[in-house]
Amino acid sequence: MSLDGRVALVTGGLSGIGRAIAAKLASNGAHVVVLDAGEVSRDDGISGEELVAALPTKSLFHQGDVADPDAVGAAVERTVSAFGSLDVLVNNAGVTVFKSIDALEVDDFDFVLRTNVRGAFVCAQVAVARMRTQSRRGVIVNVASNFAFVGATDAVAYCTSKGAVVSMTQALAVEVGKEGIRVNALCPGATATEFNRAHRARAEIDAEWQEMTPLRVLGTGAHLATPDQIADAALFLASDSSAFMTGASLVVDGGWNAR
Ligand SMILES: NC(=O)c1ccc[n+]([C@@H]2O[C@H](COP(=O)([O-])OP(=O)(O)OC[C@H]3O[C@@H](n4cnc5c(N)ncnc54)[C@H](O)[C@@H]3O)[C@@H](O)[C@H]2O)c1
Repeated sequence: MSLDGRVALVTGGLSGIGRAIAAKLASNGAHVVVLDAGEVSRDDGISGEELVAALPTKSLFHQGDVADPDAVGAAVERTVSAFGSLDVLVNNAGVTVFKSIDALEVDDFDFVLRTNVRGAFVCAQVAVARMRTQSRRGVIVNVASNFAFVGATDAVAYCTSKGAVVSMTQALAVEVGKEGIRVNALCPGATATEFNRAHRARAEIDAEWQEMTPLRVLGTGAHLATPDQIADAALFLASDSSAFMTGASLVVDGGWNAR
């Protein structure tokens, strides 16, 4: 699945799943621009500059908030001026607040929706405007979640946001499909990152997630995906191997949604 000569913008690419996607796309030939609100990775404290310097293609780090249109516009301008095009947008930046409905503040709800929904929209809007001007049209991969389709404990805001991302994916795919721009959602199940570390450390959550995952191997932690397993699916959606797919949701969750 070669991405030789392609240019990819990966949001939230400094940590976790986004970091694995950035590495996967670069190791398959793409120049990658990592757009992240943080300065250092949540995984191990590595800086954005250090992270992109270690990638096998010439790549860039750009600090900015996905929900800020000016910041996203600047990131896309920098991408195009450095590498000449924007071929792939991976809308991966995301946050969560795991709280019960009683404890969830309106501000918590807004915080989750602002990054996960508004952020994905802002990046897609800026990217589509650019992709329309190019002879080789683009691909958008929206990282949603299996929680777009099922409920889970203490996840009202998060599930709402990811359901919206799946709907956004379908609406945008219909709107831009005739122009050759593809838009798909990638829906990971529980994945081993800092994002959910504290939440899944709770005994009742660990038990729920193990129970819900047919591919689990009890007690080994293997009911969690690795970021690299999710990145394999992102590479497929970003590449020409998925050329006739748009508006789809690719669920990679160890079977959780099959229950
Ligand atoms: N980890 C899981 O179990 C899981 C499961 C399904 C879906 N997802 C989704 O995958 C994506 C990545 O999750 P992860 O587990 O790697 O999380 P993570 O917390 O490990 O990494 C998220 C990255 O996004 C960045 N970020 C957060 N808000 C941002 C903003 N406003 N602008 C720019 N960057 C921002 C963070 O700085 C961080 O580097 C998210 O959309 C998440 O909802 C995760």
